[in-house]
Amino acid sequence: MLQPTNAPAKWDLGAIPWDQLDTSLVRDREDLFYLVTAASFIEIAADLYSNNLALYFADDREIVEWLESSWQKEEVRHGTTLRNYAQRAWPHFDWDSAYSKFFADYSRKCIISAYEPTHVLEMVARCVVETGTATFYQSLAMQTNEPILKGIALAIRAEEINHYKHFYAYFKKLNVDCITNRWQIFGAVFRRVLEARKDDAECAMWHVFNNCESNGKQQDLRQFKLLYQQLSRQIKKEYPLAMAAKMLIKPLRLPLKLAQFIEGPVANCSTWILRH
Ligand SMILES: [Fe+2]
Ligand SMILES: [Fe+2]
Repeated sequence: MLQPTNAPAKWDLGAIPWDQLDTSLVRDREDLFYLVTAASFIEIAADLYSNNLALYFADDREIVEWLESSWQKEEVRHGTTLRNYAQRAWPHFDWDSAYSKFFADYSRKCIISAYEPTHVLEMVARCVVETGTATFYQSLAMQTNEPILKGIALAIRAEEINHYKHFYAYFKKLNVDCITNRWQIFGAVFRRVLEARKDDAECAMWHVFNNCESNGKQQDLRQFKLLYQQLSRQIKKEYPLAMAAKMLIKPLRLPLKLAQFIEGPVANCSTWILRH
């Protein structure tokens, strides 16, 4: 029976009690191996584009300071924590070698292609990205009984939600005169949701698969596609749609009753997007 997802860890990401890691609960969980390792690749590679984001907002000292002193460091720590977990739980996998191949590929073709045309809309886009990560880690926490992995997933989820809150606060600050209207904001949300589907995750997962010597399926694209579909279905089964819908429509700043009214349809729409 899975533990409740809101069970708080008694430690934070800076003091993980690795001696309590029960590898017997995850050693044979190929699904978790792929999800955790691929997530570690993407989070560590955050360094690639986080400097560019700080440059994009260079004229706002407050935002740049938060990006550099908190956000960037926390994203990379998510990656190093997940890497440390993967190396302990699945020591047969050569993480360093696989990551260097992933990085060469990702830095060439998988990075975020462009920023939104205005600072306000880029803040909306960042809210969408943090919604995606917070909900992913919520779902990951539901996939396991292993207490250290569950604690890590919940701790990262909390930090991703905190990132969302910061980006949302900056969005409100920058859009104080409401020059950016709801249709423009809706457009930014929609574009970013579709962009997310192009999937950095698939790029990371491919490099985990392709460097996994024990599965004997290297270079077999058909096998990889099947595995990827299966893992996507698994994440979607526990995906917190209501939470995602609430976070996605918040920047629209709709009247409360209208926001509550459309949360359901937005959740249904998210389900459709996730399935196609
Ligand atoms: Fe993260
Ligand atoms: Fe984040």
